[in-house]
Amino acid sequence: MNNQAAIFDQIVERRRSIRIYDENAFFDETSVTRSLERATLAPNSSNLQLWEFYRVKTKSKKDELAKYCLGQKAASTANELIVFVTRKDKWKENAKFVLGEAKKDFPEKIGKRQKLVTDYYSKLIPILYGNDIFDISGKIKKIASFGVGVFQPIAREVDANDMRVVVHKSLALAAQTFMLSMTAEGYDTCPMEGFDSKRVKSFLKLPNAAEIGMIVSVGLAKPEGLYGRRVRIPNNKIIHVI
Ligand SMILES: Cc1cc2nc3c(=O)[nH]c(=O)nc-3n(C[C@H](O)[C@H](O)[C@H](O)COP(=O)(O)O)c2cc1C
Repeated sequence: MNNQAAIFDQIVERRRSIRIYDENAFFDETSVTRSLERATLAPNSSNLQLWEFYRVKTKSKKDELAKYCLGQKAASTANELIVFVTRKDKWKENAKFVLGEAKKDFPEKIGKRQKLVTDYYSKLIPILYGNDIFDISGKIKKIASFGVGVFQPIAREVDANDMRVVVHKSLALAAQTFMLSMTAEGYDTCPMEGFDSKRVKSFLKLPNAAEIGMIVSVGLAKPEGLYGRRVRIPNNKIIHVI
């Protein structure tokens, strides 16, 4: 194992979900700034970055949000709560931005690759993300995908609900990047899905289309905040070599 891998190994081993933080310990909030900036570098579907991260820092706001986290101590004793939000509704705006940035690097004479990138963001992405209210287009896409799929490999995840999963996958990678970064910074975290999403959404004044993926609390662990040893299903049941 090389040095970097050894350091990464330590970070992965050290990250544990912490349920009680030491509220009196010094907390360097710039560690959250750095970690959120690192989280934006997480891999994500089509590089659309359909996510937002909300930092809740002030005591009164934190207390209110902790109530919506169903009173969990992992929330009420934390120094900050970070809400990881999907923004599927921003696909058009973000696709335009990403294509605009890509075009800055295009050579004067546009080749096959540049045409593919342009078609990807201006034709395929609207087909995948553009949905009507009852997702009738999604059902048509499903049938079309099934039909074509009889003859050749094709993407099957094409309706509105499938695209929700797509954005949540990317968001989870950002949340994990954030948590590992906080561990590297010397702090602890707890990812939470135990919360009242409706109340959290109105607390953050989010539009209907936004969804809360998870809320991650941060702070310095109290020894009793670690609930027991780490339990994992044996590797031979999880890791398969084909
Ligand atoms: C998506 C997600 C949601 C979770 N929600 C909660 C939660 O609401 N409350 C909590 O105490 N732990 C929560 N956890 C933490 C898990 O219980 C924890 O990751 C698991 O038991 C493994 O322990 P470890 O993180 O210490 O390795 C959540 C973890 C994930 C990934």
